[in-house]
Amino acid sequence: IIASTLALGVLTACSDNGGSVRSPASRAASAVSGAGAASVGDPYTPGDGNGGYDVRNYDLDLRISPRATPELAGTATVTAVATDRLTRFDLDLSGLTVSKVTVGGAAASYTRNGSELVVTPPAPIARGGNFTVQVQYSGNPRAVNDPVLGRYGWLPTSDGVFTGDEPSGAHTWFPSNDHPADKATFGFRVTVPRGLTAIANGRPTGTRTAGDSTTYSWREDSPMATYLAMVDVGRFKVRTGRTPGGIPVYAAVDPAITTTTVDKLYDTTARVTDTWAKVFGPYPFGSTGGVVDDVQVGFALETQTKPEYGGPMGGDPTTIAHELSHQWFGDSVTVTRWSDIWLNEGFATYAEWMWGERSGTGPSVQTQFDQRYRQTDSPDLWSVPPAEPGRARLFGRSVYERGAMTLHALRQKVGDATFFAILRAWTSQHRHGNATTPQFIALAERMSGKDLGPFFQAWLYGKTRPTAW
Ligand code: ARG
Ligand code: ZN
Repeated sequence: IIASTLALGVLTACSDNGGSVRSPASRAASAVSGAGAASVGDPYTPGDGNGGYDVRNYDLDLRISPRATPELAGTATVTAVATDRLTRFDLDLSGLTVSKVTVGGAAASYTRNGSELVVTPPAPIARGGNFTVQVQYSGNPRAVNDPVLGRYGWLPTSDGVFTGDEPSGAHTWFPSNDHPADKATFGFRVTVPRGLTAIANGRPTGTRTAGDSTTYSWREDSPMATYLAMVDVGRFKVRTGRTPGGIPVYAAVDPAITTTTVDKLYDTTARVTDTWAKVFGPYPFGSTGGVVDDVQVGFALETQTKPEYGGPMGGDPTTIAHELSHQWFGDSVTVTRWSDIWLNEGFATYAEWMWGERSGTGPSVQTQFDQRYRQTDSPDLWSVPPAEPGRARLFGRSVYERGAMTLHALRQKVGDATFFAILRAWTSQHRHGNATTPQFIALAERMSGKDLGPFFQAWLYGKTRPTAW
């Protein structure tokens, strides 16, 4: 969630070509040359992702020394399956210095080309073959400064580091196939100066202090998109336990934060997690939680199992309700291409409205809808199609608010029982996978028995305010 989505609305939408990923042309080119494509072909994030392989697991062994040089020294071990015969393939990596690359344990040659790390394995990898590429690297990661999306990625804090990577920040701190279409499991081993805590996704798998360093290990066993990977380093007050429903909780708050407490974060996180499990279907992951860090960013991010909240967003229950709903919508069911981002943000905004209604802290969902529907003169709502917003409006009002309105209009059309059955079928059918808007439309049509083509055309793709549905 973003502190002021309105700030994004002033920029003009970029043109786009329909959001296809892995174009036939790039596939054909790689089939001929044996080189994996340098990009997955998503026009919203040019250059991100690669072709020719599918990552299964990242093991990130990182030494992080806040405010020192190098701030980061790491070994990334990437286990993948070749989807083509590969004489060469790319990983995404911006900045940093690579000192060694091995494939299958044998030295590989490599070159850097912009944000691509181009690897030539000692011998071609057969199509369908498993392989392991290991990259040793170091340096000071640089935050992404995007004219439209703002400053994000690797962000130094007063006592450590915060990472918030959506959409393209992950490859500023680890070599990756940096596109949500390729999800993988993650292991982290993060070594930091003694006295600091290192938090990452998933469950803690051990802590070890040696000399003046402590190594924190974490593991996320469910597939995760690269933009949801996180490492937060600093001083933290931590509280752990289980929700009443039995899900392990890890809550951490920077002691410099005055707007909330670790108990508030813990309690709200536990309550929201159990509530959404009743509404959206079983909680998709092995743990829940959150991290509030003293960092001046205007957004919170739904990092898998542990959303991160920048200081200004810390502890607000509506924001917690939003980020935890993303565990179902975005993290477990992940976009295949960024143009479908309303599948994340429209659903999470709808969850915010439901939380306000249920907890009595906000207006009813119907009022939220009505207040916006009345804004007949808002081009940021009505001239921007939420399911094809253009890169400049990826996190703009239409994606969030018209996206949520689309869900409410659907609910009005199919009735409460069918609507909530559709949401639960969606989270169950695409659990731990990827999905697209046409798949959501098909599911809604199947479950309601209605032709919803014109309805979704108007709400998701139209450039005028829908009038009848
Ligand atoms: N997904 C985030 C949310 O919960 C927004 C992230 C925005 N990204 C950025 N680089 N500003 O709404
Ligand atoms: Zn969101």
